[in-house]
Amino acid sequence: MQRTLVLLKPDCVQRRLIGDVLSRFETKGLHIVAMKLLQVTPELSKQHYAEHVEKPFYPSLEEFITSAPVVAIALEGLEVIRVVRDMLGATNGLQAAPGTLRGDYSSSRQMNLVHASDSEESAKRELDLYFGADEFCDYSLVLTPFMR
Ligand code: TYD
Ligand code: MG
Repeated sequence: MQRTLVLLKPDCVQRRLIGDVLSRFETKGLHIVAMKLLQVTPELSKQHYAEHVEKPFYPSLEEFITSAPVVAIALEGLEVIRVVRDMLGATNGLQAAPGTLRGDYSSSRQMNLVHASDSEESAKRELDLYFGADEFCDYSLVLTPFMR
């Protein structure tokens, strides 16, 4: 079982797509184990995007990611890191395949709706950035009582 960090970015929040995107993860059968709305600060942005801070697009990326709140979500599931990256599609919305979240909802390289960790190492680092140990809920799925 793995955990991954997902961020619903400011464009997702501004466009009122939180529910639609969450619904895709729920329908896929992934398990939400932590979730909150927060404002990313310039400091948090630099930590989150540490690998990109020196790149030419970084100042614009920081301006965007701090422009409105984000929804941070920890998802749990088998191979969830790869599964969620596959659900997002390519970074650039113009190149992301139809059927993926970015392919269906974004036509931008920067405003591409959703972030997801890309490896076990980055998932651990990013989950630690957004959540304290006491913010995770451990629970198992109990379906039958609600179906009676
Ligand atoms: P990256 O980690 O390469 O993409 P991904 O989000 O798919 O892991 O880049 C981080 C974010 O930076 C990306 O979601 C959008 C933005 N970005 C740009 O604005 N311009 C660029 O040229 C690239 C590569 C990324
Ligand atoms: Mg990345």
